[in-house]
Amino acid sequence: MNEDQIRQKVIESLPELSQIQDEELRTKVVDAWTYSLSRSSFDSIDQIRASGNPDTPALKTGTQTDHIRGVTQLAIAISDTLHGQFPDLPIDRGLLVACALCHDVGKPYEFDPENQKRWKANTPGTGYPAIRHTQYGTHVCLTIGLPEEVCHAAGCHSGEGELVDRSLHVTIVHHADYAFWRPLQAGGMLEDG
Ligand SMILES: [Fe+2]
Repeated sequence: MNEDQIRQKVIESLPELSQIQDEELRTKVVDAWTYSLSRSSFDSIDQIRASGNPDTPALKTGTQTDHIRGVTQLAIAISDTLHGQFPDLPIDRGLLVACALCHDVGKPYEFDPENQKRWKANTPGTGYPAIRHTQYGTHVCLTIGLPEEVCHAAGCHSGEGELVDRSLHVTIVHHADYAFWRPLQAGGMLEDG
């Protein structure tokens, strides 16, 4: 697929983009996924293994797109509930959705079969993984010129975020991420392992 086709597929995969009112922010979220996918072996988010890490259990049915969409919908639900109870909670819906949609934007690099093969063939030389999706995702978001907090979401939604104080939006995305995987695991919806 060429870059325009990849871009079109990103837009089709992520209907939650419509929740971002700011056109520039919405376009940059699409740009970020297009940049990341077009420099990988993947043409769409659907083709990426549906797991949190390359070696953790994957969804029995569903794709990485279902993960990104699920986390975004969970983040919106958390935000709506808490903002309903505590109207002073300073949540920016568009920014929150951008953070959620971009949190795993680095996965095309870490999950790329070519990179996996290379890193596993010479782990003493490369490290494994040499670059996690959090780090590559931060690179992508900075390169595209997304707001700093979206870069923070890509970089700090996972374990790396334990080293810093996460922002409000990224705290919501972090918990939405775990609120996606953990109940599905407990309910037998993930492969064994
Ligand atoms: Fe995730």
